[in-house]
Amino acid sequence: MNINNYKPSMETIVSLCKRRGFIFQTSEIYGGINGFWDYGPLGVELKRNIKSCWWKSMTQFREDIVGLDSSIIMHPMVWEASGHVGNFKDPMVDCKETKSRYRADQLFVFKNKEDTNELMFVYHEGADCDVIKKINKITKNDINEYTSFELLQIPLDSYHLLVGPDVINPGTLTHPRSFNLMFKTYVGPLEENSSIAYLRPETAQGIFAQFSNVLSTVRNKIPFGIAQIGKAFRNEINPRNYTFRSREFEQMELEYFIKPGTDEEMHAYWVNERLSWYEKIGLPKVHMHLDIHDESALAHYASACTDILYDFPFGTQELEGIAARGNFDLTQHQKISGKKLEYMDEETKEKYIPHVIEPSAGVDRIALAILCEAYREEWISKKDGEIIQADPLVKRPPEGFESRIVLSFKPCIAPYKIAVLPLVKNKEDIVIKAKEIYAILSKRWKCFYDQSGAVGRRYRRQDEIGTPFCVTIDFETIEQDDCVTIRDRDTMEQIRISICELESFIAEKIEY
Ligand code: GAP
Repeated sequence: MNINNYKPSMETIVSLCKRRGFIFQTSEIYGGINGFWDYGPLGVELKRNIKSCWWKSMTQFREDIVGLDSSIIMHPMVWEASGHVGNFKDPMVDCKETKSRYRADQLFVFKNKEDTNELMFVYHEGADCDVIKKINKITKNDINEYTSFELLQIPLDSYHLLVGPDVINPGTLTHPRSFNLMFKTYVGPLEENSSIAYLRPETAQGIFAQFSNVLSTVRNKIPFGIAQIGKAFRNEINPRNYTFRSREFEQMELEYFIKPGTDEEMHAYWVNERLSWYEKIGLPKVHMHLDIHDESALAHYASACTDILYDFPFGTQELEGIAARGNFDLTQHQKISGKKLEYMDEETKEKYIPHVIEPSAGVDRIALAILCEAYREEWISKKDGEIIQADPLVKRPPEGFESRIVLSFKPCIAPYKIAVLPLVKNKEDIVIKAKEIYAILSKRWKCFYDQSGAVGRRYRRQDEIGTPFCVTIDFETIEQDDCVTIRDRDTMEQIRISICELESFIAEKIEY
């Protein structure tokens, strides 16, 4: 089978993430809370590595971008100026019978082609048509007689004919209502209108609000950027697809300030930069796609927007949006705050409000994409060690093969970089040497020390959590050559290398 087309099911990923400690339901002992997730010991390392690769590529490897860490709660006027108080809304629809709440723009309707007064069957984007058929007893033959519309195209006076996604009788859906996605809170002891504040729904506005402070401290020349990583919060109507759409998530955003008129070229530059970055962290081009927004679909101030999408098991979905936002945000903040947010070209003495290109990515979505991409089930020949891709439709490996699960992370992304394994645990010299090597390597990388069980089983444990290298200390290490065995996770090949070369050998393979 073509391994490029293999996708694990979401159930497989969810179960591995829980079993091995990547992702847990938040406050699970109390039944969880929809749209919030916790990252376990491995998940937290995975996310830190993604963020570190992004941060390095943005701020360390280039001179034109600096970092920022702005607060989550900012002055509420920030959100007035940015338009979030007025416009950051999704249309929602409630079902009076089931009390379910849906995002209206994610609902679609089956309508009989012939009969204009016939009932219309509502289904959720991505739903399997069988579900609609089952609940409303629509047969396969009937489907051909139906056409499909977006719910938002249906006139309000026809809502009594709508049969909601999870009910049998019509007329249970409310008209769409706007719902602001920002979480509100109060700052200070009084719960009154004047103390309302918002949890930021994006990190970007913190960058715009600090534009002049950053500019006056670093004195960068245009084009230059300000990068920020941090939590964002959105009261999503319908969190779903595991961590993909959550209510608390992390963003990595860059505001790249440019000279007006260079928007098109700079936008194209950033789309390419970002695609190369995804490849570098283990998301190959074959599974990535670009969604170039139509001019007619852009906000009035934007000149371009391209989304970078990944082929998730639940469909091809957005990881990052790259928008050319003109000077909308800085102009708004200048207008509402009354403070000048201009840039002065030192040579020409020309003053202007810069335009901006905004690559904005979600850490949680990238982590999920990486987990899906890295997951493999393989069969290994007991005779000669040949590795073949397991057939997902066949439960057991063929005669003479054994199976393994591997997370084939790029080394720079892997939660643990190296596992240090003494061949046996009851030989003191071997254990002491292994602990010594573990202590040396741990100074540079996150390492795992494991001395329990058969070495084969220990290798499998590391394969399943994606550790790229296992270093084994054996009798020969002590008695003969001061060498160790390094096993490569993907090829399962083992080489012997002297202890003094170990660190540089691994560094070359791991460094981002
Ligand atoms: N400042 C621009 C901005 O926030 P966005 O498309 O709304 O743009 C950027 O968000 C990225 O943040 C998305 O591409 C996605 O990766 C991530 N993101 C947005 N909403 C999310 C959610 N509810 N759960 C997880 N990630 C989300």
